[in-house]
Amino acid sequence: MFNALILEQHDKKTIAEIRQIDESRLPNEEILVAVDYSSINYKDGLAITGKGRVIKAFPAIPGIDLAGTVLQSNDQRYPVGSKIISTGWGVGESYWGGLAEKVALKADWLVPLTDGLSTKNAMKIGTAGLTAMLCVQALIDADIKPDDGEILVTGASGGVGSTAITLLAQLGYKAVAVTGRAKENSELLTTLGATRIIERGEFEEPARALEQQHWAGAIDTVGSKVLAKVLSQMNYNGAVAACGLAGGFDLPTTVMPFILRGVKLLGIDSVYCEYDKRVQAWQRLTTLLPEKFYQQACTEISLNETIHYAEKIINGQVTGRTVVKL
Ligand SMILES: NC(=O)c1ccc[n+]([C@@H]2O[C@H](COP(=O)([O-])OP(=O)(O)OC[C@H]3O[C@@H](n4cnc5c(N)ncnc54)[C@H](OP(=O)(O)O)[C@@H]3O)[C@@H](O)[C@H]2O)c1
Repeated sequence: MFNALILEQHDKKTIAEIRQIDESRLPNEEILVAVDYSSINYKDGLAITGKGRVIKAFPAIPGIDLAGTVLQSNDQRYPVGSKIISTGWGVGESYWGGLAEKVALKADWLVPLTDGLSTKNAMKIGTAGLTAMLCVQALIDADIKPDDGEILVTGASGGVGSTAITLLAQLGYKAVAVTGRAKENSELLTTLGATRIIERGEFEEPARALEQQHWAGAIDTVGSKVLAKVLSQMNYNGAVAACGLAGGFDLPTTVMPFILRGVKLLGIDSVYCEYDKRVQAWQRLTTLLPEKFYQQACTEISLNETIHYAEKIINGQVTGRTVVKL
């Protein structure tokens, strides 16, 4: 028997409960893992509260992230006792996920734990951190350099936002944080490397087709009118890496930033990101993230606290990253 967060659906309502479950109920997969740590991402919040259609079949175990130790293996890349990370590939959505003491997975979904990284710090990074790294890399690949000007990060207090700010600062970029919680989080965001803080309210006004140019690059985790505003303020040849929808999935914009300023909108997906790109991103994250990130931008909780934290993340009340100790 092992402990897990189980989701069931009754009368179209999602019911979440911590329960013991028999190991024989795990799917017959290539790798059995003892989970050391999982984490709570925005998507986990949507799954656990039932506020988003994340879970494909009930009963389910959520948790899109996990890091742990291989207990049984049919694949020589991951021998018994080796440490692994799993993010994406539908784990915690279509397949039972990481908010459990044990999980059965396909070998192709895994990456080996990067040298120099603990399973706990891997989950402090998690899907959010991997996505932040992919966003930063997309701006670098679009030839946005530290001297080109400021880089705007929206949803700055969140997992993706706070990690993106830290990474940009470490790489010598001037990162400007947009947050709805300036009072609460300015000190943390400045410690992580934000050069200035802007109130989210300024980005929630309807955008004109083109506004004054301010930003060489941007990382947007919010979508909707905030992303529309960001696009209208981009510098000539600027680039925006868009990965999120915390403010909505619509995009009330015009073609003007694209056709008159050559602005590039770069879509970022971490779920089906290729293996080599993933491994490279994890290595870069391990090298770049300073100790203060792990110490100050992360909270550790137990499996019993996950239901409460799922509500909090959906209500925009979580700062930084939340790791779950199994
Ligand atoms: N494409 C991918 O592969 C991928 C991967 C990971 C995450 N995501 C998406 O990226 C987004 C951020 O994920 P996360 O894990 O960092 O979530 P998170 O920790 O909840 O951060 C989201 C942040 O957005 C801001 N926010 C919340 N509600 C908002 C609203 N109604 N309007 C405007 N801003 C709002 C808050 O920051 P402030 O309080 O500072 O404003 C919040 O901390 C989510 O939409 C998630 O689904 C996508």
